[in-house]
Amino acid sequence: MKTILYITSSVRSFKEEETQHQSITRLLGERFLEQFRLRYHDVEIIHRNLSIDPPSFLTQEFIAAAFEKAELTSEQKAVLKMSDQYIEEIKQANIIVIASPMYNYGMPAVLKAWFDQVIRVNKTFSFDLARGDEPLEPILSGKSLVLLASWGEFNFRKGENKYHLNHLSSHIEQLAPYLGAEQFFEIASEYQEFSDDRHRASKLSALTQVKELANNLASI
Ligand SMILES: Cc1cc2nc3c(=O)[nH]c(=O)nc-3n(C[C@H](O)[C@H](O)[C@H](O)COP(=O)(O)O)c2cc1C
Repeated sequence: MKTILYITSSVRSFKEEETQHQSITRLLGERFLEQFRLRYHDVEIIHRNLSIDPPSFLTQEFIAAAFEKAELTSEQKAVLKMSDQYIEEIKQANIIVIASPMYNYGMPAVLKAWFDQVIRVNKTFSFDLARGDEPLEPILSGKSLVLLASWGEFNFRKGENKYHLNHLSSHIEQLAPYLGAEQFFEIASEYQEFSDDRHRASKLSALTQVKELANNLASI
């Protein structure tokens, strides 16, 4: 059996029967899961819809509990409960699919809040000054991370002239090892704000790539 952790973060929804104001990242996510299920039947999907059920922001109490070395109090356990649950979901997953829009050149706040909850000392990374200037090391391994993105402008892909403005893809790629991801894939639809032929072509191309990637990952 394979487990896919599916994280969605757009404030827009996606419904098959509607045509207006549909989330492109959710569309790409749905098509990925659909295609994967066609190729690989024994799959469990854990869906975290962060815009409907947003993670809490970190607090001083959270940090204190996360770094506590002694036995945790019941209050501290309660503060970490959601984080524990999110981390458990990551541990279970073979593939993590993150469907994320670009908001203000980066990831949505709810997605950043989720990363802040799951990148946690002695759970998803270890910290040891004996390693010198690089004391952090990921704990989890063996997973694949798929980023399904959409943005209104264009030329934000790696190697293109506006990649340096894209803080969404580079940020998530940088964080990927802390989720245990050893492989990082990204598919993006561009030009959403222009609603023109370039947008239609880009979306279509993203959908084709999604299908191919789902087939490939399902056959590993
Ligand atoms: C609050 C907000 C901020 C956005 N910021 C950017 C941006 O900085 N750059 C960009 O190219 N598009 C930006 N967009 C456009 C979205 O990335 C685009 O609409 C994308 O398709 C959203 O994903 P979704 O279709 O899954 O909702 C923004 C949209 C919203 C609603």
